[in-house]
Amino acid sequence: MAARVLVFYGSYRSDRMGIRLADYVVSGLRARGAETELIDAKAVGLPMLDRMYKEYARGTAPAPLEALAAKIREADAFVFVTGEYNWGMQPGLKNLTDHFLEEWFWRPAAVASYSAGRIAGARASLMWHGTLSEMGMVVISSTLTVGPIAQALSADGRPIGEAGKFLDQAFPRFVDDLLWWTEAAKMQRTRKSPPY
Ligand SMILES: Cc1cc2nc3c(=O)[nH]c(=O)nc-3n(C[C@H](O)[C@H](O)[C@H](O)COP(=O)(O)O)c2cc1C
Repeated sequence: MAARVLVFYGSYRSDRMGIRLADYVVSGLRARGAETELIDAKAVGLPMLDRMYKEYARGTAPAPLEALAAKIREADAFVFVTGEYNWGMQPGLKNLTDHFLEEWFWRPAAVASYSAGRIAGARASLMWHGTLSEMGMVVISSTLTVGPIAQALSADGRPIGEAGKFLDQAFPRFVDDLLWWTEAAKMQRTRKSPPY
Protein backbone atom coordinates (compact mmCIF):
# COMPACT_ATOMS: atom_id res chain seq x y z
CA MET A 1 0.00 0.00 0.00
CA ALA A 2 1.28 3.48 -0.87
CA ALA A 3 2.60 5.64 1.94
CA ARG A 4 0.17 8.40 2.93
CA VAL A 5 2.05 11.66 3.35
CA LEU A 6 0.66 15.02 4.44
CA VAL A 7 2.58 18.14 3.40
CA PHE A 8 1.96 21.10 5.71
CA TYR A 9 2.45 24.74 4.72
CA GLY A 10 1.48 27.73 6.83
CA SER A 11 1.99 31.18 5.32
CA TYR A 12 -1.10 33.40 5.38
CA ARG A 13 0.47 36.18 3.27
CA SER A 14 -1.33 37.30 0.09
CA ASP A 15 1.98 37.30 -1.81
CA ARG A 16 3.30 34.12 -0.30
CA MET A 17 6.21 32.37 -2.01
CA GLY A 18 6.54 29.15 -0.04
CA ILE A 19 3.56 27.62 -1.82
CA ARG A 20 6.03 27.02 -4.66
CA LEU A 21 8.09 24.70 -2.49
CA ALA A 22 4.97 23.05 -1.05
CA ASP A 23 3.73 22.32 -4.59
CA TYR A 24 7.18 21.02 -5.60
CA VAL A 25 7.30 18.65 -2.62
CA VAL A 26 3.74 17.40 -3.24
CA SER A 27 4.38 16.60 -6.90
CA GLY A 28 7.78 15.07 -6.14
CA LEU A 29 6.27 12.74 -3.54
CA ARG A 30 3.43 11.78 -5.88
CA ALA A 31 5.98 10.97 -8.58
CA ARG A 32 7.58 8.58 -6.07
CA GLY A 33 4.26 6.81 -5.53
CA ALA A 34 3.26 8.36 -2.21
CA GLU A 35 -0.39 9.25 -1.67
CA THR A 36 0.17 12.91 -0.90
CA GLU A 37 -2.06 15.78 0.21
CA LEU A 38 -1.21 19.43 0.79
CA ILE A 39 -2.54 20.81 4.05
CA ASP A 40 -2.56 24.57 3.60
CA ALA A 41 -3.07 26.16 7.02
CA LYS A 42 -4.54 29.29 5.47
CA ALA A 43 -7.17 27.23 3.63
CA VAL A 44 -7.95 25.16 6.72
CA GLY A 45 -8.36 28.44 8.62
CA LEU A 46 -8.21 27.26 12.23
CA PRO A 47 -8.62 30.12 14.75
CA MET A 48 -5.82 31.01 17.16
CA LEU A 49 -5.53 28.09 19.55
CA ASP A 50 -8.25 27.98 22.19
CA ARG A 51 -8.92 24.31 22.87
CA MET A 52 -6.72 21.56 21.50
CA TYR A 53 -8.54 18.86 19.54
CA LYS A 54 -8.29 16.45 22.45
CA GLU A 55 -9.91 18.94 24.82
CA TYR A 56 -13.24 18.62 23.03
CA ALA A 57 -15.61 15.88 24.11
CA ARG A 58 -15.84 13.18 21.42
CA GLY A 59 -17.94 14.39 18.48
CA THR A 60 -18.06 18.04 19.55
CA ALA A 61 -14.91 19.46 17.93
CA PRO A 62 -15.47 21.99 15.11
CA ALA A 63 -15.71 20.26 11.72
CA PRO A 64 -12.34 21.49 10.29
CA LEU A 65 -10.53 20.32 13.42
CA GLU A 66 -12.26 16.92 13.34
CA ALA A 67 -11.48 16.46 9.63
CA LEU A 68 -7.83 17.36 10.06
CA ALA A 69 -7.44 15.12 13.13
CA ALA A 70 -8.69 12.20 11.03
CA LYS A 71 -6.25 12.98 8.22
CA ILE A 72 -3.32 13.20 10.62
CA ARG A 73 -4.27 9.92 12.31
CA GLU A 74 -4.54 8.16 8.94
CA ALA A 75 -1.23 9.51 7.63
CA ASP A 76 2.06 7.59 7.66
CA ALA A 77 4.41 10.58 7.44
CA PHE A 78 4.54 14.36 7.38
CA VAL A 79 6.53 17.05 5.60
CA PHE A 80 6.61 20.56 7.08
CA VAL A 81 7.37 23.28 4.55
CA THR A 82 8.53 26.28 6.53
CA GLY A 83 9.59 29.81 5.85
CA GLU A 84 11.25 32.08 8.38
CA TYR A 85 9.90 35.27 9.94
CA ASN A 86 12.43 37.23 12.01
CA TRP A 87 14.56 34.13 12.63
CA GLY A 88 11.49 32.26 13.81
CA MET A 89 8.61 30.03 12.75
CA GLN A 90 5.63 31.17 10.73
CA PRO A 91 2.76 31.54 13.21
CA GLY A 92 0.07 30.06 10.95
CA LEU A 93 1.82 26.72 10.72
CA LYS A 94 2.74 26.63 14.40
CA ASN A 95 -0.85 27.46 15.36
CA LEU A 96 -2.24 24.62 13.26
CA THR A 97 0.32 22.16 14.60
CA ASP A 98 -0.36 23.02 18.25
CA HIS A 99 -4.00 21.97 17.96
CA PHE A 100 -2.92 18.31 17.98
CA LEU A 101 -0.64 16.09 19.98
CA GLU A 102 -1.29 12.35 20.19
CA GLU A 103 -2.51 12.40 16.58
CA TRP A 104 1.10 13.04 15.48
CA PHE A 105 2.74 10.28 17.50
CA TRP A 106 4.90 7.47 16.05
CA ARG A 107 5.27 8.92 12.55
CA PRO A 108 8.32 10.42 10.80
CA ALA A 109 8.45 14.11 9.88
CA ALA A 110 10.72 15.94 7.48
CA VAL A 111 11.41 19.67 7.27
CA ALA A 112 11.75 21.60 4.01
CA SER A 113 12.70 25.23 4.57
CA TYR A 114 13.00 28.27 2.35
CA SER A 115 13.42 32.01 2.48
CA ALA A 116 13.96 35.06 0.33
CA GLY A 117 17.69 34.92 0.97
CA ARG A 118 20.49 32.38 0.96
CA ILE A 119 19.94 31.37 4.60
CA ALA A 120 16.95 29.40 3.19
CA GLY A 121 14.94 29.36 6.41
CA ALA A 122 17.60 27.33 8.22
CA ARG A 123 16.91 28.98 11.59
CA ALA A 124 13.20 28.14 11.45
CA SER A 125 14.08 24.63 10.31
CA LEU A 126 16.20 24.16 13.42
CA MET A 127 13.30 25.24 15.63
CA TRP A 128 10.87 22.88 13.93
CA HIS A 129 13.17 19.94 14.63
CA GLY A 130 12.84 20.43 18.39
CA THR A 131 9.11 21.15 18.24
CA LEU A 132 8.18 18.18 16.07
CA SER A 133 10.31 15.92 18.20
CA GLU A 134 8.53 17.17 21.34
CA MET A 135 5.23 16.37 19.61
CA GLY A 136 6.14 12.70 19.22
CA MET A 137 7.38 12.58 15.64
CA VAL A 138 10.63 11.03 14.48
CA VAL A 139 12.32 13.96 12.75
CA ILE A 140 14.53 12.69 9.94
CA SER A 141 17.99 14.12 9.43
CA SER A 142 17.62 14.91 5.74
CA THR A 143 16.31 18.40 5.06
CA LEU A 144 15.65 20.61 2.09
CA THR A 145 16.89 24.20 2.25
CA VAL A 146 15.78 26.43 -0.60
CA GLY A 147 16.95 29.99 -1.01
CA PRO A 148 16.49 32.42 -2.50
CA ILE A 149 13.18 30.75 -3.26
CA ALA A 150 12.35 33.12 -6.13
CA GLN A 151 15.53 31.97 -7.90
CA ALA A 152 14.88 28.26 -7.31
CA LEU A 153 11.23 27.70 -8.20
CA SER A 154 8.80 29.21 -10.71
CA ALA A 155 5.34 30.36 -9.68
CA ASP A 156 3.94 26.94 -10.53
CA GLY A 157 6.55 25.12 -8.44
CA ARG A 158 8.95 24.07 -11.18
CA PRO A 159 12.72 24.20 -10.53
CA ILE A 160 14.55 27.02 -12.31
CA GLY A 161 18.20 28.03 -12.69
CA GLU A 162 21.17 26.83 -10.63
CA ALA A 163 19.24 26.88 -7.33
CA GLY A 164 16.50 24.75 -8.88
CA LYS A 165 19.14 22.29 -10.07
CA PHE A 166 20.51 21.97 -6.51
CA LEU A 167 16.99 21.34 -5.24
CA ASP A 168 16.40 18.59 -7.80
CA GLN A 169 19.72 17.02 -6.78
CA ALA A 170 18.83 17.07 -3.08
CA PHE A 171 15.24 15.87 -3.39
CA PRO A 172 15.74 12.13 -4.09
CA ARG A 173 17.79 11.57 -0.94
CA PHE A 174 15.27 13.56 1.11
CA VAL A 175 12.44 11.32 -0.13
CA ASP A 176 14.49 8.11 0.23
CA ASP A 177 15.16 8.97 3.85
CA LEU A 178 11.54 9.90 4.57
CA LEU A 179 10.15 6.75 2.92
CA TRP A 180 12.67 4.54 4.76
CA TRP A 181 11.47 5.86 8.11
CA THR A 182 7.85 5.78 6.94
CA GLU A 183 8.11 2.07 6.22
CA ALA A 184 9.97 1.39 9.47
CA ALA A 185 7.43 3.26 11.60
CA LYS A 186 4.49 1.69 9.76
CA MET A 187 5.83 -1.82 10.35
CA GLN A 188 6.37 -1.11 14.01
CA ARG A 189 2.83 0.29 14.36
CA THR A 190 1.33 -2.88 12.86
CA ARG A 191 3.56 -5.07 15.08
CA LYS A 192 2.98 -3.26 18.32
CA SER A 193 0.19 -0.97 19.50
CA PRO A 194 1.38 2.42 20.66
CA PRO A 195 1.30 2.69 24.48
CA TYR A 196 -1.63 5.06 24.83
C1 LIG B 1 7.54 39.24 8.83
C2 LIG B 1 8.66 38.72 7.98
C3 LIG B 1 9.87 38.40 8.55
C4 LIG B 1 10.90 37.87 7.79
N1 LIG B 1 12.06 37.47 8.39
C5 LIG B 1 12.97 36.79 7.68
C6 LIG B 1 14.09 36.20 8.34
O1 LIG B 1 14.27 36.28 9.53
N2 LIG B 1 14.97 35.50 7.58
C7 LIG B 1 14.81 35.36 6.22
O2 LIG B 1 15.64 34.71 5.58
N3 LIG B 1 13.76 35.91 5.58
C8 LIG B 1 12.84 36.62 6.27
N4 LIG B 1 11.75 37.17 5.64
C9 LIG B 1 11.63 37.05 4.18
C10 LIG B 1 10.96 35.73 3.84
O3 LIG B 1 11.95 34.74 3.73
C11 LIG B 1 10.17 35.79 2.53
O4 LIG B 1 9.26 36.87 2.57
C12 LIG B 1 9.42 34.50 2.29
O5 LIG B 1 8.87 34.55 0.99
C13 LIG B 1 8.31 34.30 3.35
O6 LIG B 1 7.56 33.14 3.11
P1 LIG B 1 6.08 33.22 2.47
O7 LIG B 1 6.23 34.06 1.22
O8 LIG B 1 5.70 31.80 2.16
O9 LIG B 1 5.19 33.88 3.48
C14 LIG B 1 10.72 37.71 6.39
C15 LIG B 1 9.49 38.05 5.81
C16 LIG B 1 8.46 38.54 6.60
C17 LIG B 1 7.14 38.84 5.94
